[in-house]
Amino acid sequence: MILDDHDSGAGQLQLDNRSRKIQKMFSRVPQTYEKVNHSITLGLDIRWRKRLVRQATAIAQPGNWVDMCTGTGEVAVYLQQQAPPGTQVWGVDFTPGMLEVARKKPEASSIRFITSDIKALPFKENCLDLVTMSFATRNINLDRETLVRSFAGYCRALKPGGSFVNLESSRPSSRFVRWCNDLYIKLLIRSTGSRISGAESPYAYLARTIPRFYPAAELADILREAGFSRVRFKQLLFGAVAIHIAVK
Ligand SMILES: C[S@@+](CC[C@H](N)C(=O)[O-])C[C@H]1O[C@@H](n2cnc3c(N)ncnc32)[C@H](O)[C@@H]1O
Repeated sequence: MILDDHDSGAGQLQLDNRSRKIQKMFSRVPQTYEKVNHSITLGLDIRWRKRLVRQATAIAQPGNWVDMCTGTGEVAVYLQQQAPPGTQVWGVDFTPGMLEVARKKPEASSIRFITSDIKALPFKENCLDLVTMSFATRNINLDRETLVRSFAGYCRALKPGGSFVNLESSRPSSRFVRWCNDLYIKLLIRSTGSRISGAESPYAYLARTIPRFYPAAELADILREAGFSRVRFKQLLFGAVAIHIAVK
């Protein structure tokens, strides 16, 4: 058994104030969440998630694969589609409404979803073979120290040799690309997201946090600080998105 004694349902979560605000924000968007993402990235987000899964499954041993902050479970479903026999795919998230959408997907019937804060993971030490996460690093980056601690938690739960593969928006190094990216975010993300979802604050938050996020090289340093080794990254869309691979 790889779980500590844990209630995997929507039992009472102990969340700090900032996490509760983030949870509340995501509780407003589950039904439209995927539609907004596909619209504001012109469908590129689907390709990026599939690429994350290709890279992750190419290096992962069979066993227990966990998608952290899984949301509506898109990556978890792609992992399940690639999972070799004997592999259990898990999805962890603290927003019950997002997990409800994930659980309803027919392709997710054998995935085990857990309602948990990633800062208090229910997994035992050295028990996971693969950890993935997509588009959630900005959300768990309450501050740099908390992010290091959260990644250290992933590292602790992984077996030696296990990998963490992370997909996130990134700060492009070219000033011109940064300018174009910031303009795109300012003009389109907030308005399109709010219009489709009917909720303004989540997309104001998204538009605010993307331009402030770390460049890919700094995120690699944070992963090293958290205890990972052999950290490398691949930049996509001129550096506006990055996939990091880190090994325990
Ligand atoms: C932007 S969504 C990403 C969802 C999914 N990974 C994807 O690729 O679309 C961020 C998700 O992280 C979850 N989340 C944020 N902070 C969390 C935390 N501390 N613990 C667990 N889940 C968290 C939110 O509930 C939300 O579903």
